[in-house]
Amino acid sequence: MSAPAMAVFSLFLLLLAAPVLGFTRSDFPSEFVFGAATSAYQYEGAVAEDGRSPSIWDTFTHAGNIADKSTGDVASDGYHKCKDDVKLMADTNLEAYRFSISWSRLIPNGRGSVNPKGLEYYNNVIDELVKHGIQIHVMIYHLDFPQILDDEYGGWLSPRIVEDFTAFADVCFREFGDRVSYWTTIDEPNVGPIGSYDSGIFAPGRCSEPFGVIKCTVGNSTVEPYIAAHNMILAHASVTRLYREKYQAVQKGIVGINVYSFWTYPLTNSTEDLAATKRYQDFMFGWTLEPLVFGDYPQVMKANVGSRLPSFTKSQSEFVKGAIDFIGINHYYSVYVNDRPLKQGVRDYAADMSVYQRGSRTDPATSEYLPSVYPDDPEGLQFVLQYLTETYGGLPIYVQENGKASSNGTLDDTDRVKYLKSYIRGTLTALRNGANVKGYFAWNFLDIFEFLGGYQSGYGLHRVDFNDDARPREARLSARWYSSFLNNNVIHARNELNNTGIHAQQ
Ligand SMILES: *[C@@H]1O[C@H](CO)[C@@H](O)[C@H](O)[C@H]1NC(C)=O
Ligand SMILES: *[C@@H]1O[C@H](CO)[C@@H](O)[C@H](O)[C@H]1NC(C)=O
Ligand SMILES: *[C@@H]1O[C@H](CO)[C@@H](O)[C@H](O)[C@H]1NC(C)=O
Repeated sequence: MSAPAMAVFSLFLLLLAAPVLGFTRSDFPSEFVFGAATSAYQYEGAVAEDGRSPSIWDTFTHAGNIADKSTGDVASDGYHKCKDDVKLMADTNLEAYRFSISWSRLIPNGRGSVNPKGLEYYNNVIDELVKHGIQIHVMIYHLDFPQILDDEYGGWLSPRIVEDFTAFADVCFREFGDRVSYWTTIDEPNVGPIGSYDSGIFAPGRCSEPFGVIKCTVGNSTVEPYIAAHNMILAHASVTRLYREKYQAVQKGIVGINVYSFWTYPLTNSTEDLAATKRYQDFMFGWTLEPLVFGDYPQVMKANVGSRLPSFTKSQSEFVKGAIDFIGINHYYSVYVNDRPLKQGVRDYAADMSVYQRGSRTDPATSEYLPSVYPDDPEGLQFVLQYLTETYGGLPIYVQENGKASSNGTLDDTDRVKYLKSYIRGTLTALRNGANVKGYFAWNFLDIFEFLGGYQSGYGLHRVDFNDDARPREARLSARWYSSFLNNNVIHARNELNNTGIHAQQ
């Protein structure tokens, strides 16, 4: 094809594609926020600097539990580079940034005195974000539990955690709440306990035969995940109540919790598989959200788990009910669910899950531990947002993590651009269908240490070269795409003045 013919042909394709794929930042409400995320242990490094004490993830990685034997000792070196990184966020046109606070950096003994250097670090990050007009979303706790408290009383397995977690959050509200309005208490309380206390693939690596994926020396897989999650719900409620009583009137922020989410399709339309799918949703979302919205665990969990599921006293039930201002979700892909009879020694949701390419159930795509190759299903995110809105009283929802790993680290990550585009489109469709979704954060802003894959599966919009001590950052195609998509908002805002009508996205 000649060059002019090619140009005409491309234009034709563009025109053809535009009505189908075309949407811009300005199709979303202006108060909707787009951002990207990181988390402390995965990003900061500097694990033994300026008074930080170890978290359970330091211990876990140093015991060689990650496939490639990597650790977060240096990670993306965010502790030393945060100022440049915030500048990079501004250059990427991010409207918001979600990060987490390292508890053992801020309060090295787990409770008691605050580490001035830790305080200074987070104040610097927050001040830089304010300076660049980037909205701040803080995850108070993202898996990196202080080792010292795990040693003292078993961390989340003890009800003592409620008081210490509340005191930690109190420090965060007191010190940062003048500039931070969006607080999420706990990352993934509906799967973290499974990784930590059932399969053992997450720190502190506890499990019991025959459930462990790793070899554990201690633990009880059928009981501990439920205890840990129960204490997380109580701790979350305690923090939310503290904020409401002591800070909300002045600081005017909101407090939510995060849940990991799959969308679930029944593998067949049999009555059994349809029931298994519903049951699995109750175990996945209801475990955390039913107590916080309605005051108790889902009936099916109580029936299937029996006495191994802790119960709420009447006053605890009243305490947790309503202690939530918004739901944060982490979402990556969808699964198919089929019925499996409940028997001794199988998972209590009595179902199997498999990841299939939608529409071709004969073609199992992957195991859930290989996030780089799962099939895309943007409708799944749309369905999750609609389901949560309908099921849990229309609470505001933030998509706090969504993204795709790349297996080879390429800068030319066209597949990630396609993924982000289609999932943001799914978010827009959900919004138009009435889902109360308020924001979207790409996971993640730049390559970091991944809890499941070490440094092998970069999710970053920006690439980090982990073989170079300087950890240089380089924009991937996805960073450029996101940046131009978000730039449309700026252009749109200025349209009122000069009516340029430029649409940067396409
Ligand atoms: C786990 O705890 C339950 C309830 O206390 C007990 O019945 C079971 O034997 C324990 N399992 C292991 C492996 O310790
Ligand atoms: C189940 O029924 C729905 C609605 O009729 C249909 O769209 C879907 O393809 C069916 N699923 C299977 C696995 O047969
Ligand atoms: C790297 O992955 C991208 C998709 O992200 C693919 O298009 C490209 O061919 C891969 N490159 C190599 C060298 O494998």
